[in-house]
Amino acid sequence: MTTTTTAPTSTAVLDASGVTMRFGGLTAVRGVDLTVNTGEIVGLIGPNGAGKTTFFNCLTGLYVPTEGKVAYKGTVLPPKPHLVTQAGIARTFQNIRLFANMTVLENVLVGRHTRTKEGLWSALLRLPGFKKAEQESRERAMELLEFTGLAAKADHLARNLPYGEQRKLEIARALASEPGLLLLDEPTAGMNPQETRAAEELIFAIRDKGIAVLVIEHDIRFIMNLCDRVAVLVQGEKIVEGPAEVVQADERVIAAYLGEPFEGAPGKEEAAEVEAAEAEAHSTTEGDDK
Ligand SMILES: Nc1ncnc2c1ncn2[C@@H]1O[C@H](COP(=O)(O)OP(=O)(O)OP(=O)(O)O)[C@@H](O)[C@H]1O
Ligand SMILES: [Mg+2]
Repeated sequence: MTTTTTAPTSTAVLDASGVTMRFGGLTAVRGVDLTVNTGEIVGLIGPNGAGKTTFFNCLTGLYVPTEGKVAYKGTVLPPKPHLVTQAGIARTFQNIRLFANMTVLENVLVGRHTRTKEGLWSALLRLPGFKKAEQESRERAMELLEFTGLAAKADHLARNLPYGEQRKLEIARALASEPGLLLLDEPTAGMNPQETRAAEELIFAIRDKGIAVLVIEHDIRFIMNLCDRVAVLVQGEKIVEGPAEVVQADERVIAAYLGEPFEGAPGKEEAAEVEAAEAEAHSTTEGDDK
């Protein structure tokens, strides 16, 4: 990796070092270091099963990493999901996790409970002092629905939203905890091209609000348009990291996606023979439909 000079104002929002996660004999994530700086959108890519979601689970306290540590704005985080959220890291899930039978607005309100001192039980039991906090929470939640383009559907049940809007609602709910870092696990999975472009705009707008973003996605064009930096995981290891255009052209990345030549794979000579045979077959069938 080339050394980059960081501007003096640039501070690490996320600093994960040596993160390893083993499941029995399987090492899903192996010694991964990753930083995300203020104002950055960083991409995390890699083939299926590379360990991307597992890495997110280690960052957010869902898994206790076998080794390594995760720091947010200079403070090492305990691996407990509610403490991680409270510290300022929010996430969305690869498999959408909404409260299907709650309204869109209620889903966002649930996301706010880590930021209101009354807390979830107070909200559910409607204890004194709850009313003012509730009013403020509703206003903030509606702002977030405006921001994500869902305000008109505030009273709809989450389960009745089309898929693309459910993904947006997950983002709105994550933003409700007022994070400094947002982790997105495949935010455009299942979206059509227009929805994907809208998601791109939304993520830029989130960054412009001062929230750093780390995003997992298989859609390489989306990643390359969006990200300042991209890290590539293959079999649990970070093999390359750098600016999008550098990563895109890296032969190790291309090999990881296309597959390494396997032992006994046809060499140049065999390939030339096949090509010659194809050319011959083609010339004898010339004039036929292609
Ligand atoms: N809780 C678990 N117990 C055992 N193995 C697990 C667990 N979670 C993940 N794994 C394994 O860890 C590896 C990495 O999985 P992970 O879901 O992190 O990959 P991914 O990069 O997110 O893949 P995809 O792009 O398909 O979402 C896989 O081999 C998976 O089977
Ligand atoms: Mg995954």
